[in-house]
Amino acid sequence: MLELIADTELQALAALQGATSADQLDRWRTEWLGMNGRLKDLMQQLKSAPKETKPQLGKRLNELKATLESAWDVRKQALPTAEVKGIDLTEPGLPMGEGRRHILSRTIDEILDVFGQMGFAVADGPEIEDEWHNFTALNIPEGHPARDATDNFYMGDPNADRGAAGGTVKRLLRTQTSTVQIRAMESTPPPLKVVAVGRVYRPDTHDATHFSMFHQVEGLCVDRDLSMRDLKAALLHFAHAYFGEDAEVRMRPSFFPFTEPSAEVDMKMRIRDQWQWVEIGGCGMVDPNVFTAVGIDPAQWRGFAFGLGVERIAMRRYGISDIRWLFENDARFLRQF
Ligand code: DAH
Repeated sequence: MLELIADTELQALAALQGATSADQLDRWRTEWLGMNGRLKDLMQQLKSAPKETKPQLGKRLNELKATLESAWDVRKQALPTAEVKGIDLTEPGLPMGEGRRHILSRTIDEILDVFGQMGFAVADGPEIEDEWHNFTALNIPEGHPARDATDNFYMGDPNADRGAAGGTVKRLLRTQTSTVQIRAMESTPPPLKVVAVGRVYRPDTHDATHFSMFHQVEGLCVDRDLSMRDLKAALLHFAHAYFGEDAEVRMRPSFFPFTEPSAEVDMKMRIRDQWQWVEIGGCGMVDPNVFTAVGIDPAQWRGFAFGLGVERIAMRRYGISDIRWLFENDARFLRQF
């Protein structure tokens, strides 16, 4: 029996050396010192030992118990605190995704930055507009097809909203940021040089190139003596600053109710090492009717304006072939930019 006790001690201490985590230490304690542990077994065997050896064996067993308990204490103290609390420091951590600004937000900031350096002040307007700012003041008369219910998001009951003159005010989600031209001219006397970026809404069926909400950047310059040359110079300056010194601007004759003459704007930009023409918006000289609508004398003032598509610029620049991806918020897509 004395030999068995000595053996047990050796075995137990050897096993303790092998226990390196809090978990393993606890399991060792149960196995050797627990209620049904191996030491308890030995104690049971003591009962059947010859009577005269019992005191000596009992003393040895008590010593063994004390030895094992203090050995366990020492091992437990030696564990790092995190181990004691049951945290496994060797376990790989959860990946923390790195956040970044949306590619559209960054594009908008960059565009505003360039126009800011060109002396344009930032203007703003509401996304829910009245017909005056979205159509009438922009020389889009009543009955014009651009006002069709199928091409606009009109809001609620048109009679619910009474205008100052007692007439009805129909509201809609603005279809173009040209509304901000009107708001800027209504609130600030000329000369004026403003840029506005914002969301616009059209009931388009979603596909790779259409979405019912997108962004435009609008520019307006009003001064005594402005011409198409100044308009082209401004657009070219932007193209050079934004796309690089080799960028080019092309204007193709077109029609918009609020400008005369009007043109489509193409910019030549580098797309994957190839220079390509990309149609990015419209522009023109402010129509005299627009000046009259906001109380500016068209005989004294001239203006140029332009409206560019932000998604178009970003999509072509970064090779994004489907506009819907910009609004799905799939991190796997967004983190590429
Ligand atoms: N508002 C026009 C559109 O949404 C774009 C545009 C054309 C804006 C000519 C302008 C402009 O300021 O002068 O299609």
